[in-house]
Amino acid sequence: MTDNKSLNERRQAATPRGVGVATGIYADRAENAELWDVEGKRYVDFAGGIAVLNTGHRNPTVMAAVQQQLERFTHTAYQVVPYEPYVELAEKLNELAPGDTPKKTLFVTTGAEAVENAVKIARAHTGRPGVVAFSGGFHGRTMMTMGLTGKVDPYKRGFGPMPAGIHHLPFPMPMHGVSVQDSIDALHRLFKADLEPEQVAAIIIEPVQGEGGFYIAPIELIKELRRVCDEHGICLIADEVQTGFARTGRLFASEHWGVEPDMITTAKSLAGGFPLAGVVGKAEIMDAPAPGGLGGTYGGSPIGCAAALGVIKVIEEEQLLGRANIIGQRIIERVNRIKDRTDVHPIGDVRGLGAMVAFEMVTEQGTDTPDADATKALCAKALEKGLILLSCGVYANTIRILVPLTASDAVIDEGLDIIENCLAEMGTSAVAAE
Ligand SMILES: Cc1ncc(COP(=O)(O)O)c(C=O)c1O
Repeated sequence: MTDNKSLNERRQAATPRGVGVATGIYADRAENAELWDVEGKRYVDFAGGIAVLNTGHRNPTVMAAVQQQLERFTHTAYQVVPYEPYVELAEKLNELAPGDTPKKTLFVTTGAEAVENAVKIARAHTGRPGVVAFSGGFHGRTMMTMGLTGKVDPYKRGFGPMPAGIHHLPFPMPMHGVSVQDSIDALHRLFKADLEPEQVAAIIIEPVQGEGGFYIAPIELIKELRRVCDEHGICLIADEVQTGFARTGRLFASEHWGVEPDMITTAKSLAGGFPLAGVVGKAEIMDAPAPGGLGGTYGGSPIGCAAALGVIKVIEEEQLLGRANIIGQRIIERVNRIKDRTDVHPIGDVRGLGAMVAFEMVTEQGTDTPDADATKALCAKALEKGLILLSCGVYANTIRILVPLTASDAVIDEGLDIIENCLAEMGTSAVAAE
């Protein structure tokens, strides 16, 4: 029988260690919010393939859409022989993206590729090189997106030099000493001291930082970014690779902003488990690159587009925007009740936008001192008890919950019970570093 241990040995011998894995279990099959490993053990999945499965593993509507597409054709290369699912999906996203400005949409394959293309389009539109991003932000592992990413370990170490023209601002994190005013001041200081705004093509920001720790971008900061972008002709890019597709209670998290981004990058839950990504943007900006400047062999795969059309149907029919808010509230209330207990490992800040929920592990109740070791220990313990749980954050002390929005209350509660039991077993004392 294939077991986790032997697969782990084969993985270590056959694949580079740079592709780190969060668990030592190997997937056999999965359904909605549950996964079974090759040894037959069942897990509740609070990771959702890192925010890819808002509509759950193998959603029947998505699977049917893919099945139908598989029967017709799987690849033509859109740039050689285009097809309707690409055009139809673009039409839908143009209509659903926030703001009244007419939109156009480009499809690619991965989140990083979407970000790369948004930057290319902004440069073509403005004729300028510069890009401003935020510390703690994560935009991918390709050269440009690695440069934009605001975390050295493990994403940048040893991979320099970074591409030119990238500047970072601090992202607001009040519990770790960065206020929204600090971020706004840093933006003005950058434009006064270091960089003329007329050299900047784009400012890119995640509405809620994903890998960075689920910190929510304050509306006050977004409004100031929009104002500065308008003043200087800079494109505002919302990187919604992790926040998009109903996770925050809106199709796009930037709908919470009340101001319109110039471009939105989307991927992950867009196609419910199939590789597809896109850039939705103001038509005039999207049309800046000349024919042939955008695209790729697999970009906008017909299977991915069919899956995404299925995902949109599921979000509408199963009212997943409302469900995201209900799930988010349920999780936040429960985690806050656990936080109030004095006999469990201490929890710090609990936060969320819709069902994009996180809490911080701290060394002592009532403080915000990060406890990365306890965070690691909680994920390991949860896995033993049958829950796949992910951490994130600049301080590696944030637990993020990305349970499918199609999960039942019973399965969500089962996962939360496991978290509570683990924290109780860990007790109040600090966890020793390995
Ligand atoms: C906000 C954000 N942007 C970009 C990416 C990169 O996406 P991909 O891993 O599909 O290249 C990610 C991945 O986690 C992300 O969270």
